[in-house]
Amino acid sequence: MLLHLSTWCEIEDFLTRSRTIIVPIGSNEQHGPTGLLGTDWMCPEIIAHQAQQSADILVAPTFNIGMAQHHLGFPGTISLRPSTFIAAIGDWVRSLAGHGFEKILFLNGHGGNVASIEAAFSELYAEASFARRPAGFALKLRNWWDLDSVGPRAYAQFPVGHGSHATPSEIAVTQWAYPAAIKSASYSPQIAPTGPIREARDFRIRFPDGRMGSDPALATPEKGAELVTLAAKSLLREVEAFSREAAPGSSASH
Ligand code: NI
Repeated sequence: MLLHLSTWCEIEDFLTRSRTIIVPIGSNEQHGPTGLLGTDWMCPEIIAHQAQQSADILVAPTFNIGMAQHHLGFPGTISLRPSTFIAAIGDWVRSLAGHGFEKILFLNGHGGNVASIEAAFSELYAEASFARRPAGFALKLRNWWDLDSVGPRAYAQFPVGHGSHATPSEIAVTQWAYPAAIKSASYSPQIAPTGPIREARDFRIRFPDGRMGSDPALATPEKGAELVTLAAKSLLREVEAFSREAAPGSSASH
C-alpha cells in the first residue's frame, strides 16, 4: 500500500491493522556519466514498492533529498546540509508518530545519509528522554544493500569493479525499473579511482567523472531484477520482525 495513493480514511483503517510504516530515503546526486541523478532515492523506492505488491505493508512517500554536499560540483545534485536533513527527518517522524505509527523503518539508498539519519534518531529519542516520557515510537535504519543476502549477491555479480559510488549494482536496479532511461558511455579508466570524501571541489578533482571505484558498464537490467527480488523479500521479513517487536515503552520489553 502506497501512502500517496491512499486517502486519510484508508490510512486510519490501516492503523487498526498495523502501526508500522516504511520510508524510502535517499539522495538526488550525480552518479557518474551513466547513473541517473535519482539513483539513491530510486533504489529504496523501487524495492519498497515491489515489496508492498505482495504484502499488506505501508510505504510513505520517498524522502528524496539527502546529504550530498560532496557531489555539488556536478550539475543536477541537490543537497541538504546535515542540520537541515536532521530537522526534516524529525518532522517526518513527529508527523507519522502523531498519527499512531510506532515502528518507522527508513530504507536508505545513500551511504552519505547514514550519519545524519542516526543523528536524527538520537535527537528524537533525546526529546523523549529529556521530557521524561516514552518516545512512543521505535526507529530503524536499513540500507538496501545491507538487507539479508543482497550485499553478498551484488559482490558475486560484480567481483571486480563494484566500487562505492555509481556502483553497477545500484545502476542495475534502476535499469530494471526504468529501462527507457538506460545510458551508455565509454569510461576512462574503466574502473574509477578510490579515495576519501571531503568537500565538493576536492571530490571533483579526485573523481573527475563522479564514479568511485566502480565500473558501471557491468550493470544489466537482469542483474538488477535479481537484486530487487532478493531485497524486496528480505525487506518483508525485516518489516515483519520489526512489527513483532514489543511496542515502544511497553513493559514487555527488557
Ligand atoms: Ni548511489
